[in-house]
Amino acid sequence: MPNRCVCNAAVPDDEFARDVASGLARAPKRLPSKYFYDAEGSRLFERICEQPEYYLTRVELALMQTHVADIAAQLGPGVRLVEYGSGAGIKTRLLLGQLKAPAGYVPVEISALALQASVAAIAAELPQLPVRPVCADFTRAHVLPDLPVISARTVIYFPGSTLGNFDSDAALRLLRQMRAEMGAAGAAVIGIDLEKDRATLEAAYNDAAGVTAAFTLNLLTRINRELDGNFDCAGFAHRAHYNAIAARIETAIVSRRDQAVCVAGRRYHFAAGEAMAVEISSKYRLDGFERLAARAGLVVSRHWADAARSFAIVLLQPVRA
Ligand code: AVI
Repeated sequence: MPNRCVCNAAVPDDEFARDVASGLARAPKRLPSKYFYDAEGSRLFERICEQPEYYLTRVELALMQTHVADIAAQLGPGVRLVEYGSGAGIKTRLLLGQLKAPAGYVPVEISALALQASVAAIAAELPQLPVRPVCADFTRAHVLPDLPVISARTVIYFPGSTLGNFDSDAALRLLRQMRAEMGAAGAAVIGIDLEKDRATLEAAYNDAAGVTAAFTLNLLTRINRELDGNFDCAGFAHRAHYNAIAARIETAIVSRRDQAVCVAGRRYHFAAGEAMAVEISSKYRLDGFERLAARAGLVVSRHWADAARSFAIVLLQPVRA
């Protein structure tokens, strides 16, 4: 159990504070990966995407470049494109650029700064397109805004294999939420990373330049800054290994020594070698993903994968009654 300690505890009572307090008090300790993405974490994630070992971004982008016309044709005219996450990256702009007479673009993102950047990027490239940002956690129920014209269908875009950062129950909840949000005529376009050999996967999450390690450990820096913590980042190490049974990369922050840390006025003990779970990155087989989607009332109507079958973009549609 955590103890009170004498750290200065002038910390806002927010969700981050509550999640960190409960995650550090658990056995084993665990923190949600959504807190990686402060300004520095987002900058480091962009750099991860450029690392030679991190194939996901490159392969998904190449798939979009090759198949975007086909994907857009499947979606048809008058689409209201709802993106979960900050979006407006090159893949989103490719898709929006190919859609026939899109009704508009609705990025749903919790960070107001990221949302502003995404709106500015779209406005610069597609000035005629109505953009209606929603500042919200996309995993929670949110109201989608109306657009100047009535859309023919709502399409949810969720690239990057971010679905893999949710455990299977949470991924199912999210797919069910998408199903409800898209309505009977809707669809979803989702990027999923596929199962592959351990060496390729572990290299992707342990890049030689150490960018992923810096990204992971930045969570401790964020806790120090925002929650009055005193983590000594040099006393912790990044570890990412592939759990082949669960088909997922499991990332942990491992204590290099026996030590105590104060966060928001509470004291937590870390044993030497103790691992705190911070992220999962699930890898899928297409048939397994189809079964997961079916439980959410969705069917994979098309998919586009590279020749090595390392990544896939799937088109999901409601199962017909
Ligand atoms: C955002 N998400 C899909 C990335 C992934 O591959 O799980 C986050 C990441 N973590 C470490 N490297 C990249």
